[in-house]
Amino acid sequence: MSSTIATIVSEKTAYFLGLEEKHGAHNYHPLPVVLERGEGVFLWDVDGKRYFDFLSGYSAVNQGHCHPRIVQSLIEQASVLTLTSRAFHNNLLGEYEKYITEYFGYDKVLPMNTGVEGGETAIKLARRWAYVKKGVAENKAKVLFAENNFWGRTLAAISSSTDPSSYSKFGPFMPGFEIIPYNDLAALETALQDPDVAAFMVEPIQGEAGVVVPHDGYLTGVRELCTKYNVLFIADEIQTGLARTGRMLACDHEGVRPDILILGKALSGGTIPVSAVLADDFIMMNIKPGEHGSTYGGNPLACKVAMTALAVLKDENMAEHAEEMGELLRTELAKLNSPYIETIRGRGLLNAIVIRHPNPEAAWDLCLALKEAGLLAKPTHGDKIRFAPPLVISREQILEAVAIIGECLKQFD
Ligand SMILES: Cc1ncc(COP(=O)(O)O)c(C=O)c1O
Repeated sequence: MSSTIATIVSEKTAYFLGLEEKHGAHNYHPLPVVLERGEGVFLWDVDGKRYFDFLSGYSAVNQGHCHPRIVQSLIEQASVLTLTSRAFHNNLLGEYEKYITEYFGYDKVLPMNTGVEGGETAIKLARRWAYVKKGVAENKAKVLFAENNFWGRTLAAISSSTDPSSYSKFGPFMPGFEIIPYNDLAALETALQDPDVAAFMVEPIQGEAGVVVPHDGYLTGVRELCTKYNVLFIADEIQTGLARTGRMLACDHEGVRPDILILGKALSGGTIPVSAVLADDFIMMNIKPGEHGSTYGGNPLACKVAMTALAVLKDENMAEHAEEMGELLRTELAKLNSPYIETIRGRGLLNAIVIRHPNPEAAWDLCLALKEAGLLAKPTHGDKIRFAPPLVISREQILEAVAIIGECLKQFD
């Protein structure tokens, strides 16, 4: 294969690609496939061809495409009440707040919409706590981030990014952010010596960086160091949370509890943008009326959908299933014994392979070949391909998908 292989698409597909090319901003580089339907682990394109979805909307569709219970909740609530704004109360917000705080064991939740808003909210909460509780001088608070983090595209998010394609020519950037190496407790402890540090915000497994799993004990170490230096531990579980890695939260693998927990993506099972920030009162109650919010945050439609999306995860034992299917996926990928796979890594159903090939476009080419063969995956950072199917995938489906991957890898020969 070579990166110059022409992708032949149907006339119908070409029509939709053309519309986007002409009328949409070119801020993404999607595979040339146009999807129109989804169910469980499968997606169908406009020509009726079926694909395994091995991306799951970047882990937003953990419960599977168009999960019947989630869709039912969405439709029912959409015909009753969708948005009140927070100028008034609605009959689902309190019920949802009770449900999600009990589910994860925190005093309070602050509801938002997108993941990146969850991150912004967590940082505002941490800065506020630093000023009113920790005693940091006004405007001096610092927040630490790990190298190669990804938490979205706002100006604050890119201010903490170490990826030039995220931040270049978008400055000036947010002050008070510091970067330390990921998976390095010594570096964290050094950075924590600074009394102005309010928080360390970190992904328990770095998703966009290519599913980078830290060493066992890292999260425990982060927890201990943050406690020792009176710094808040913010876990960005937007991609890793909600059963994706084989536990309800990736932090559960080490039994650690962050001070601030950020959730998004699968909180709505891939239907509407719903995010949430959870924390205890000593952090959350420092924000007073009028000091933070969002028009859509906590809307009744989102509340209803999120409660169902969370219930589905537990009722269908999705964490346990993800753990088992993830083991199987990694074992079967290893059995392929492909010279073109450098590394297989992951936890539960958040996995990635690193491609070994002299052609820098090899991962992209492999994804094009996989698409032709009926499996959708996307490269991240050049040579890495994430394999993160919906958590409802069965044993037989894993075997079928790995067979497709094996066949496509042979095309490099
Ligand atoms: C770990 C993590 N945090 C935050 C975000 C941002 O979420 P959103 O795209 O919904 O703003 C993402 C998105 O991929 C993510 O992976």
